[in-house]
Amino acid sequence: MIVESDQDIKSLKAIGHVCAMALQKMISEARPGMTTLELDNIGSEFLKKEGAVSAPQSMYRFPGATCISISPIIAHGIPDHHVLKEGELINIDVSAEMDGYFGDTGASMVVGKQIPEYEKMFEATKSALAKALQVAKAGEPLNLIGKTIQEEARQNGFNVIKDLTGHGIGHKLHEEPASVHNFYKSDERFILTEGLVLAIEPFLTTGKGHIVEKKDGWSLQTVDKTIAAQFEHTIIVTKNEPIILTI
Ligand code: CO
Ligand code: CO
Repeated sequence: MIVESDQDIKSLKAIGHVCAMALQKMISEARPGMTTLELDNIGSEFLKKEGAVSAPQSMYRFPGATCISISPIIAHGIPDHHVLKEGELINIDVSAEMDGYFGDTGASMVVGKQIPEYEKMFEATKSALAKALQVAKAGEPLNLIGKTIQEEARQNGFNVIKDLTGHGIGHKLHEEPASVHNFYKSDERFILTEGLVLAIEPFLTTGKGHIVEKKDGWSLQTVDKTIAAQFEHTIIVTKNEPIILTI
């Protein structure tokens, strides 16, 4: 969507904040011995308490309030009876709706401890997201975002997952532009405009960057079973720095 009023901004900030708080709560409470369903319930209860509705559930009938992906699954993992183990690489993605507005945020983490190899990938992915936010300005081409993400990934020795992208968002979870690519797409002609609401979500991996859908019809896994990380923010594009909604 394109923001048209202060009310739009206020409502987008409200749902963005709720998504961010739900994600932070889940990250801080994820621990070995807990099932991903229990972790999902923490997020689900928080969203309910705040008056928000899970977007994957309401829009796509996803079998969970949030997506919890256990490596090498990197997106759309279904919360279930999987018991989290120390040192496990996971991704949590929270998207929700409130008063007709959507927010979307995600983060990767390790359960229970730090693993240098994973931390390096997290830092590179966060850095790619930060740099992408810096170039997401009105008047710039949309493909500058992907170019920036891909360059930052490469400089740190990672590849991007080309099949997973950011997206327009606002009154729906997925809107125009349908894809905010994580690589340089030379034939992409879309120009960023003031007030455009975007979810930007770089996916970095140590592998080739191809993914495959699992038999459950949801989970997306790296084909080569390599590790991957994602960090995501929902923003409003302005002439200068974007307004980050999911904080
Ligand atoms: Co997301
Ligand atoms: Co998203």
